[in-house]
Amino acid sequence: MTVNNNRRSGTQTSSFGSPSRANHDSSKFYSSRLYEGFSRGKDNVDFHENPLPAGSMDKIFCKSAERMTELPDNSVHLMVTSPPYNVGKLYDKDMSLDEYRTFLLSVWKEVYRVLVPGGRMCVNIANLGP
Ligand SMILES: C[S@@+](CC[C@H](N)C(=O)[O-])C[C@H]1O[C@@H](n2cnc3c(N)ncnc32)[C@H](O)[C@@H]1O
Repeated sequence: MTVNNNRRSGTQTSSFGSPSRANHDSSKFYSSRLYEGFSRGKDNVDFHENPLPAGSMDKIFCKSAERMTELPDNSVHLMVTSPPYNVGKLYDKDMSLDEYRTFLLSVWKEVYRVLVPGGRMCVNIANLGP
C-alpha cells in the first residue's frame, strides 16, 4: 500500500511523471505556454451563483443535456459525464464527425452556461484503441 504524505499540503505538477494527485495545484501546468492565448473564460469574472429553483434539487431530469432549461445560469459547481462515444454502442446514433462535434459543442456550451465561475467539468473520454 502506498501512503500519500502530500495529503495535507497537496501535490503540484511534477517535473517527471505523476506519482499522485491530492488537493492538486495545477497552476504551473495551466500557466505553461500550451495555454497561451486561451481565454480563461469565467475565471476572470466575479463569482456569482444563482440558486436553483425550488423543486429542482436532488432531481433527475430525463432529457438531453443540450437544453437544461431547469437550471439557471451560474448555478452548478461540478458536472461529471461519460458522453456517448459515437462508436456504434446501443445508445449511439452513428453521427458523422461533424455531427458529433456539433452535438458535443452544444452540450459543452450549455454546461458552460450553468456552471458557476470556477466550476469544473469532468469528462470521461473513451480509450478506444485502434
Ligand atoms: C458512454 S454512455 C455512458 C455510460 C455510463 N458511463 C455508464 O457506465 O453507464 C453515454 C450516455 O449518454 C447518454 N446520452 C446520450 N445523449 C445524451 C444527451 N443528449 N444528453 C444527456 N445524455 C445523453 C446515453 O443515454 C448514455 O447513457
